[in-house]
Amino acid sequence: MSKIEFRNVSFSYEADNKAVNILDGLNFKVEEGEFACLIGPSGCGKSTLVSLLLGLQFPTKGEILINDKPVTGPDVNRGMVFQHYSLFPWLTAKKNIMFGIKEAGILKNRKEIAKRAEEYLELVGLADSADKYPHELSGGMQQRVALARAFAMDTDILLMDEPFGAIDPQKRIELQELSIELCKKRGEKKTVVFITHDIDEALVLADKVYFMEPHKIRTEVNVGLPADTPREELIRLNRYDQLRRELLDLFTEVKVRTA
Ligand SMILES: Nc1ncnc2c1ncn2[C@@H]1O[C@H](COP(=O)(O)OP(=O)(O)OP(=O)(O)O)[C@@H](O)[C@H]1O
Ligand SMILES: [Mg+2]
Repeated sequence: MSKIEFRNVSFSYEADNKAVNILDGLNFKVEEGEFACLIGPSGCGKSTLVSLLLGLQFPTKGEILINDKPVTGPDVNRGMVFQHYSLFPWLTAKKNIMFGIKEAGILKNRKEIAKRAEEYLELVGLADSADKYPHELSGGMQQRVALARAFAMDTDILLMDEPFGAIDPQKRIELQELSIELCKKRGEKKTVVFITHDIDEALVLADKVYFMEPHKIRTEVNVGLPADTPREELIRLNRYDQLRRELLDLFTEVKVRTA
């Protein structure tokens, strides 16, 4: 049994009395504990795939299974980090995280919830900003709080749709490292679906990269880079170069096909 399975999924919407196909016969499987990166050209349907996985929209055809059960609607056990900062503006950093923990229902006692929130703020390097409101934090800091909240909720599945898209390259690397750390911190590994446009981000984070073209997954690439290797070493491996070229070639091919 796969943790996540899309079986022959199609999704279309109506515009001017015509059905517009976004996904068409898409098959996609993610195993428990896998860090899956989804890349592909803009508009090919990546965010649509995530909204189906969240249970915010439903397939026109086919089915989506999580733990072998069809997705029937949103579930607090599917955490989410969006591209745009999604903190509650009226809650402090710590209270935003506490809110998530409460919603996830993993702790009931307020003191324990506060303690867990503090622990995760510390992990993302924001212990000093616990009482600040989102507008008092930079974009990168807000995204750290969103990451802390998502990980503190301890969901089995984490969906991340271009979470670092609006972050400068240096901070982005820090947040990638942080995501790897937070994934490891959990005894059993999380199943993550992470959408990005950035090939290097995908290669550093993923066990498998799924390349999406309009309507469906075109191909999957087993990354197979050595674990626990510093980024500076990783990016100098021949295998890294080879994978990078493979993915770049796919972007060129798909562009030609859709042009
Ligand atoms: N319910 C809907 N109603 C109307 N249009 C929709 C709906 N859902 C998706 N779309 C359209 O589907 C297409 C795919 O959108 P989607 O956001 O999934 O692409 P994407 O791969 O995430 O792109 P990007 O990389 O730019 O984020 C777009 O043309 C979008 O406008
Ligand atoms: Mg998108």
